[in-house]
Amino acid sequence: MIPDELFLKIVRSAVKAPSGHNAQPWLFSRSEEAVCIMPDYQRALPVADPQQRELFISLGCAAENAMIAARFYGYSTQLHLDSWDNRFMIKLFLRKDDNQEQPELFTYIKYRQTTRNLYDDITIPYDDMIALKRAVFTSGSEVKFYTGEQEISVLAPYILDANSIQMSDPAYRRELIHWMRFSQREALRKGDGLYAACVGLPSLGRTAGSFLLRNWVTAGSEERRLRKQLSKTATMALITTVKDDPAHWIETGICFQRLALTATRLNLNHSFMNAPCQVPETRFQMMNEMALEGALPQLLIRLGYSEKIAYPFRRRIHDVIVTM
Ligand SMILES: Cc1cc2nc3c(=O)[nH]c(=O)nc-3n(C[C@H](O)[C@H](O)[C@H](O)COP(=O)(O)O)c2cc1C
Repeated sequence: MIPDELFLKIVRSAVKAPSGHNAQPWLFSRSEEAVCIMPDYQRALPVADPQQRELFISLGCAAENAMIAARFYGYSTQLHLDSWDNRFMIKLFLRKDDNQEQPELFTYIKYRQTTRNLYDDITIPYDDMIALKRAVFTSGSEVKFYTGEQEISVLAPYILDANSIQMSDPAYRRELIHWMRFSQREALRKGDGLYAACVGLPSLGRTAGSFLLRNWVTAGSEERRLRKQLSKTATMALITTVKDDPAHWIETGICFQRLALTATRLNLNHSFMNAPCQVPETRFQMMNEMALEGALPQLLIRLGYSEKIAYPFRRRIHDVIVTM
């Protein structure tokens, strides 16, 4: 059996991964020689993510953190997709390996965050762009970078259209409000969800916060915020895959996590401008109009320099561990 202490250390790193609306749709268990990561469908987002595409991307992010942590503690890892009792699972087989190189990205797992503020007008240096490209080179997903105003302007219409479709959908807004945590107390108590301080909202409590979100945050106000953010973005990264299935979504998560941790190492922040990959109409338009050669858009990321913001919370470790 994977020893208690090692298992807990790996899970602690895994849960620092990002997830849509910070829903943390994962459960962990262990077997003789593997750490297992399973979807927690009770934490799915039926409106924002009806295919559960982003749920599996989040599992991929958690798996990459877990593999980096295992290597840090002296184990080599092998990832297998499996099922148990009709449940999908990612199995990370661990083998003690005293020659294991220390993964440099381990240190950055705890510093990575989704940083949603305005970025500075600074171009990413050439060497750092090369480091980002190298980080994702072997991930199995494709990453296309868009740098400078002209290249980013190609993406802008899809981002703005998708925002307008989502923000005009009452079901999307209801789900968003459900996952909002309007005060530090609420965020701490639940240990999940979108903490107001991380999305640029004041701490108001649920009644006033829901009122604000329902009445003041509109498709128009979001569009103004997005336009400002786009005008200050150094580089964007579009992650694509050749297929749309859980294996490729997990690959996307692994690829994203490597990119995000490498960016963090380079003092670069990132956030998601993901709506055009979430809304079927805009996703389809991107595929048809953007010379992606049949590839499927999975994640759209903004990269740039800024101050860090507040960190969101995670659930307690024992709430995500199950026995098989
Ligand atoms: C697949 C996926 C999709 C996401 N989509 C969005 C998004 O559309 N907009 C956004 O602001 N954040 C998005 N996020 C970021 C999450 O909200 C964030 O990871 C979560 O709140 C936890 O915060 P952290 O990344 O700072 O740990 C996404 C994250 C993942 C993994």
